Amino acid sequence: MRFAAPAGATPLDPDEMGGLKFGHITTRAELDALEHANITEGLRWLARRRRGDILNDAFIRTLHKRLFGGVWDWAGTYRRREKNIGVAPYQISMQLHMLLGDAHLWAKDRTFEPLEAGARFHHRLVQIHPFPNGNGRHARIAADIYLSDHFDHAPIEWASGFDLQADNARREAYLAALRAADAGDIDPLLEFVAGNGGAARQTFSVTSAIEMSPSPARRTGPNYETAKQKAHHG
Ligand SMILES: Nc1ncnc2c1ncn2[C@@H]1O[C@H](COP(=O)(O)OP(=O)(O)O)[C@@H](O)[C@H]1O
Ligand SMILES: [Mg+2]
Repeated sequence: MRFAAPAGATPLDPDEMGGLKFGHITTRAELDALEHANITEGLRWLARRRRGDILNDAFIRTLHKRLFGGVWDWAGTYRRREKNIGVAPYQISMQLHMLLGDAHLWAKDRTFEPLEAGARFHHRLVQIHPFPNGNGRHARIAADIYLSDHFDHAPIEWASGFDLQADNARREAYLAALRAADAGDIDPLLEFVAGNGGAARQTFSVTSAIEMSPSPARRTGPNYETAKQKAHHG
């Protein structure tokens, strides 16, 4: 089975597709619904977890596994293949280690304003692209946790507050900002994260991190059990 990857998403190779835990799904909408439901469970785990150091590779992998491990058997394990985005597979753990060390210093020394630290952390994490898939959602959520735990700052308004049409424009702006950051210009990403008053939101909610959706399916907020049953029974 093959799913066309949306723009700005990483295509999966056949090996990775083989890691799908549900054999009967045939459309990207079904896959999106399953992933969304899994992420919802992951966010619940996140909400009740005990506070601890998030800037270590065990947490980075555990977070990915919690978000995607119900759908993909390789969730939480680093990529072994080259992708069009991301460092070479053998560089992942070293690059990640450097990023986590930097992020620790940015928080300790208050090197940047919180949103800038969050934006830089997010960009470096998606640029490394540690996992076969789910890097965008994982790294948006990770940046929100970094902001919350290390800066006591509200999450970034990745997508929420925009309707679906506008979401697409927002996603375009997001991808363009990441490309600029790849080329060494962080400003568009800073503009993006400052865009609509992320700091104004009081309650800690990371769900906007997953609403940056190329597909309307994620909007429907499917129930995990329903999605699983559908997948099993075709
Ligand atoms: N040019 C780029 N530079 C850095 N990161 C990028 C670039 N283009 C896309 N990305 C990131 O990669 C993500 C897509 O990777 P993917 O693993 O498919 O994540 P997800 O499955 O969560 O969408 C995008 O959401 C974005 O965060
Ligand atoms: Mg993807």
